Amino acid sequence: MVQILRKPAWAISENQATCEAAFLNRRQLIKGWGMAGVGLAAAMAVRPGRAFGADDPTADLYPAKRNESYMIDRELTPEKVNTRYNNFYEFGSHKQIWKAAQALQTSPWDIRVDGLVEQPVTIGFEDLVRRIPLEERLYRHRCVEAWSMTVPWTGFALSELVALAKPLSSAKYVRFETFLDPDVATGQRQSWYPWPYVEGITIEEAGNDLAFMVTGAYGHALDKQFGAPIRLALPWKYGFKSIKSISRISFTDTRPVSFWEEVGPDEYGFWANVNPGVPHPRWSQAQERILHTGEKVDTLLYNGYGDQVAHLYKDLKSEKLFM
Ligand code: MTE
Repeated sequence: MVQILRKPAWAISENQATCEAAFLNRRQLIKGWGMAGVGLAAAMAVRPGRAFGADDPTADLYPAKRNESYMIDRELTPEKVNTRYNNFYEFGSHKQIWKAAQALQTSPWDIRVDGLVEQPVTIGFEDLVRRIPLEERLYRHRCVEAWSMTVPWTGFALSELVALAKPLSSAKYVRFETFLDPDVATGQRQSWYPWPYVEGITIEEAGNDLAFMVTGAYGHALDKQFGAPIRLALPWKYGFKSIKSISRISFTDTRPVSFWEEVGPDEYGFWANVNPGVPHPRWSQAQERILHTGEKVDTLLYNGYGDQVAHLYKDLKSEKLFM
């Protein structure tokens, strides 16, 4: 376990402190996931060295149609607000990392899918994003630091990716890993953190409709500070579970130890489901501060998504489900 030499800023309450993959790999993917035509065409279209923005190679996919089944009863957080207030420790342990995050090269971008699957593959992001139809969903996001935002995410259900990956019946967990590149992500030079950022969920959680792979927000491809080109959104869990800039997805029979769990196991656990009744060891989780308005509102069990997810935990009473 990593020794904490310095507390991360967000471990203090808000009140207190305030590749180009080898073409061979693409062939492997085409073989493994049976996407002959689409995969090959997309692979040929990859232009190395391009950045997201005006010349975003996936721009034609946005805006995606909104799925009206995923609505919220709060105003959306203005884009300018939450794209300037981010947790992305790879680029610094404060909220103003958006400029530093622009150094991240997100095209081309490969994602390795391995572990207990029929065939491990490496897929180019641009191949993947054209493989599964995108949709927009309005989600709440509740950070463990007791602030919240509401975002129109664009992406696809994680279950769709799981289906493509064809996990073996022995796979019990899905482990996600962020890129590792300390030359670009200066935060990763801080050796007291257990880089790369890792998160994990159960295979049942991954199959839940709410688990969402995010490729865009506010009607366009993801900004880098939001975790481009692809991140997770698990709206019933504390925000640290929603890992950014994913470069590897592994299916495993061993419960993954996540980044924050490794940093502070007494404060951050595997499940991390939102619960206003279970305080963080150093602050209350009863309320949250809405970004932009500053309004304080009561936090809801499972962040308001209990109807969709509570059944996942009914036989797990002895587990620490809410940290
Ligand atoms: N993913 C990576 N790779 N690195 C991070 O530091 N921070 C997490 C999560 N995913 C983090 C991450 C935390 S603590 C939160 S609250 C959300 O990202 C913040 O997402 P946002 O910046 O889009 O609001």
